[in-house]
Amino acid sequence: MDTVIDARGLTHAYPDGTTAISDVDLTIERGERVAVVGANGSGKSTLQLALGGLVAPTAGEVTYFGETTDAEAVRERLGVLLQDPNDYLFNTTVREDIEYGPAQLGLPRERAERRVASLADELGLTDLLDRPPFRLSGGEKQRAAVASVLAFDPDVLLLDEPFGAVDAHYRARIRDLVRDHDGTVVVFTPSLDAVPEIAERVLVVDRDGSIAADASARAVLTDGDLLADVGLRPPTTVRVFAGLLDDSDVPLTVPEARERLRDAL
Ligand SMILES: Nc1ncnc2c1ncn2[C@@H]1O[C@H](COP(=O)(O)OP(=O)(O)OP(=O)(O)O)[C@@H](O)[C@H]1O
Ligand SMILES: [Mg+2]
Repeated sequence: MDTVIDARGLTHAYPDGTTAISDVDLTIERGERVAVVGANGSGKSTLQLALGGLVAPTAGEVTYFGETTDAEAVRERLGVLLQDPNDYLFNTTVREDIEYGPAQLGLPRERAERRVASLADELGLTDLLDRPPFRLSGGEKQRAAVASVLAFDPDVLLLDEPFGAVDAHYRARIRDLVRDHDGTVVVFTPSLDAVPEIAERVLVVDRDGSIAADASARAVLTDGDLLADVGLRPPTTVRVFAGLLDDSDVPLTVPEARERLRDAL
């Protein structure tokens, strides 16, 4: 398999002395779907920034595509969605923000325009494209930020809280876009309900910024004790069925839960 991201001893302490991530070793292979979960303040966003080359490690290093430790050399292959969409939208119009990535990459104008139009349609942004980004609602901003990351079709998506302020309809749209992404996806989130729909592998960040577990989605999401130790709890479906079925049978998603109930009723 091709390794896209390899972190060794990755550590980041902020200037005030807060060690946000501590001695993280992880390898992500091409095509993997990974969720990084952890309580508020555990270090998910810092890990995302360090993996995305947007903060420099204070110890350890990250190797990209088995080639380089310089994130700038592979910048156009990394799609980094920051937790706060306001950090992302800085052009005069939403359209310019979404076109920015493809333009930087020198994508042919026609292809870029088609891509922007299709993402705008998918994410309900078509009527908002000529607005200044600061005049959007929170969820609209988030949809625009997701569109601007997907627009240049990066090999690796590093998405911090892509569902944060988004309603159920667009949450499903973003989920489908992430699922359909032809590459590697790493989603950072404190909320476990959406995890089974997007990830097969789950990394759990402990409160001290170390990795507490790295296993299959099922193994992590049905381990109530592990999750409680790090300040999380299993997804709703798992909590409903816990104790009623074996861990290997507990439904992780709503459609799975419906099926189990249909069988039982
Ligand atoms: N700029 C900063 N300076 C100092 N400490 C920071 C800074 N940003 C974050 N921290 C601290 O680093 C730790 C990890 O923060 P981080 O934002 O990575 O957590 P998180 O897991 O993403 O949390 P959330 O779920 O709330 O998004 C926390 O203790 C936080 O207070
Ligand atoms: Mg965060």
